[in-house]
Amino acid sequence: MFRPTIIRQAVRVARSPTSSTATRSLPSLSSRAIHSTCILRDKVDEDHDQLKEGQFARTDPNVEREHNEEDLPSSSPAQGRGGLHFKRTLASFSLEGRVGVVTGGARGLGLVMSQALVISGADVAIVDMNKEEADKSAKQLVESFMAENPGADRIPKVTAHYADVSSQESVDASIAEILSMHGKIDNLVTSAGFTENFEAINYPIDRVRKLWGVNVDGTWLFANAVARHLMGRKAPGSLVFIGSMSGAVVNVPQPQAPYNASKAAVRHMASSLAVEWAHAGIRVNCISPGYMLTALTAKIMVENPALNKQWTSLIPQGKMGQPEDLMGAVTFLSSDASAYVTGADLRVDGGYTTT
Ligand SMILES: NC(=O)c1ccc[n+]([C@@H]2O[C@H](COP(=O)([O-])OP(=O)(O)OC[C@H]3O[C@@H](n4cnc5c(N)ncnc54)[C@H](O)[C@@H]3O)[C@@H](O)[C@H]2O)c1
Repeated sequence: MFRPTIIRQAVRVARSPTSSTATRSLPSLSSRAIHSTCILRDKVDEDHDQLKEGQFARTDPNVEREHNEEDLPSSSPAQGRGGLHFKRTLASFSLEGRVGVVTGGARGLGLVMSQALVISGADVAIVDMNKEEADKSAKQLVESFMAENPGADRIPKVTAHYADVSSQESVDASIAEILSMHGKIDNLVTSAGFTENFEAINYPIDRVRKLWGVNVDGTWLFANAVARHLMGRKAPGSLVFIGSMSGAVVNVPQPQAPYNASKAAVRHMASSLAVEWAHAGIRVNCISPGYMLTALTAKIMVENPALNKQWTSLIPQGKMGQPEDLMGAVTFLSSDASAYVTGADLRVDGGYTTT
C-alpha cells in the first residue's frame, strides 16, 4: 500500500538539491549564543551523497535566526498596480467609502496589502511599532496613488499610528487616535508579526512569550477592539488575519515551533470569532501566505542559496510569491465580493500545502 507521506518524501528527495545537505558545525547546543543573522550552511556534509531517511522532511537545528527589529529592511509600495483602468470587474470588489486598519503596515506584506486597500478605494490607517517607517510608507502610498492617478477627484487619506500590538493599552490608544482622524473603522488586516528560528529545546521562554504576544495577543487585541467599535456602530465589517502556511504544515528545515503554533492559533481564532460575531455582520477570515519575497526574505535568500533552493524545490509553482500576490486575496476578503465567506483560511502559497 502506498502511503502519501512516503510518496511526498520520495518526491522531495528527488527534487531537493544535493547542496541542501550542507551543514555547519556549531558549538554545543547549550552554549550556542543567540545572534541576529541566519546561519549559512557553509560546510558541505561529507555524507551528502548518502541520503538519510527523512532528511528533507526534518527541521535542522543549524538554521538559527533571532528576530531583530533593528535589522528589518525598508520596503516600498508596488509600482504600476494602482492606476485607473477600464477593464470590467465586479463592483462588489470596491472598498470605496471604507476605512481599513492594517497592523504591521509600515513594510513588507502589510504595506502591499495597505496599498491594495487604497487602490480599491479605501482610506487606510497604518499601525506599526516603527512609527517613523509607518509615516514614510503612508506618505509613499499617497504619492504613488497620485502619480498613477493624475487628476483623481479624490485623494485617499492614509495615516500612520504607533502601537505595540501586544499591549492592550497601546492598542486602545491607537484605536482612539484612528477614530479621531478617520471617524470609523470598517476593515482590519492584522499583519504585525514575526518569525525566528531556534530549536525548541533551546528556545528562550522570554522570546517565545514575545513572539506569541505579537502574533497571537496582537491579533486578538486588535480584532476585539475593532469588533467592539463595529458592534457599537451596529455596522458590518470584515477582519482579515494574516496567518501563514506554517499554521497548517511544519515547513522545513527551519525550526520554529512557537511560530508555527502561533499561526495555527491565528487561523483557528479567525474561525472561532467568525462564528461568535456572525450575528453582528462581522466576518473574520484568515490569509495563510507561503514563502513570500519581501525585502527581509530576499536578504535571507541571498545570504543562504542552499535554503533558497530547498524552499523553492518544495513549492509546486516553483517560485516564492511576490507580496503583490496578496493584493487580490486581501481585497476579496475585505470587500462585499466575499459577503458569504467567513471563518475561511485562504492559502496563498503556490500550492506548497497541497503536496
Ligand atoms: N514574508 C513571508 O514570507 C511570510 C509568510 C507567511 C506569513 N507571513 C506573515 O505575514 C506578516 C507580515 O510579515 P512580513 O514578512 O511583511 O514582515 P515584516 O517584518 O516585513 O513586517 C512586519 C511589520 O510588523 C511590525 N511589527 C512587529 N512587531 C510589532 C508590534 N509588536 N506592534 C506593531 N507592529 C509590529 C514591524 O515593525 C514590521 O513593520 C507576519 O505576520 C508574518 O508572520 C509572512
